[in-house]
Amino acid sequence: MSITAPSGVQTTDPNKHGYRSYSLGEFKFTRDEYFAYVEWPTGKHVMSVDAFLKALQRDVAWQFFYGIVNFDGVVGTVNHYGTVDLFAGRYNDVYRKAELDHQENFETSIIKTTFEEMLDDWTNDGFDPFASPTETGSAFGAKHGENRAAITRHRVTATRMVSIPGDEPLRNDDNGHPVNRHFLDVSQEEPEKYPEPGFEDEINSFNLFAYLSRSQVTWNPSVVSVCGDSLYCPTTEEYILPIIHGNDRVEWFIQLSDELIWQVEDRDAGTARAKVTMRAGDVAAMPADIRHQGYAPKRAMLLVWENADPALPALISSGQLPSVPVEL
Ligand SMILES: [Fe+2]
Repeated sequence: MSITAPSGVQTTDPNKHGYRSYSLGEFKFTRDEYFAYVEWPTGKHVMSVDAFLKALQRDVAWQFFYGIVNFDGVVGTVNHYGTVDLFAGRYNDVYRKAELDHQENFETSIIKTTFEEMLDDWTNDGFDPFASPTETGSAFGAKHGENRAAITRHRVTATRMVSIPGDEPLRNDDNGHPVNRHFLDVSQEEPEKYPEPGFEDEINSFNLFAYLSRSQVTWNPSVVSVCGDSLYCPTTEEYILPIIHGNDRVEWFIQLSDELIWQVEDRDAGTARAKVTMRAGDVAAMPADIRHQGYAPKRAMLLVWENADPALPALISSGQLPSVPVEL
């Protein structure tokens, strides 16, 4: 039976597996022990529920991020920064040509609240959608408990820089951030600071490698420093990026450690464009008209450099700016 929750979210009583279903416009989401099902007027789709929850977790935590968050090659969201498109098949040539694609636009608060409640109801005790496969439990089975602490964990968004008094703090054992098993060899020494008298409050530094070695999560860019629209968003990666990110601006990648393999596709059609292997020290600029998914054979550190200028998507889509940062 359809229920309107106090939040306004359209849901149902729990099914025989213990999970509620959710509706957004003409989209319907249901889960059972293994799968998440998405239905729209012209089609339906099935995903493994662990992959679905890992994607949903990032879409919620990142507030729909920049551009497109593809949960896979069929369903996902497009951020219009105030409203969000929910789509099925919109960025998939086969669905488009068969005219089976569908999309609807929602106020950000409505889709966000629905996604948050679905993530909360469908995440069982012991499963952490942000964690690497060997550092979490199983998403599967009939509903048992919840993991609210994991799915609502604080996302680092510094206003100036991590470690500045009053800004995001450093990580340590005492605040629940032990060094990850793959980064036991990373030096934990912090830089020495020698500011001139009178500048003690304006000079700051921290060991970014030590900071990243203590990340609890994977594939979750954190804003560690801000200079105007320039955001440094480093992240630690292991296994597979749970979404396929469709850019609406250029992103720079600097591989800080280990190795990542990127599958790069056309953003709109999904056709293959490139495979990029990045090793420590490599730098790549991902164009504004691609989508990409990363693979990390072991935990790796990546610096994602974002330009948060809100004018960029319109300037690029109208052709006033190119989709690449440099022409060689
Ligand atoms: Fe991206």
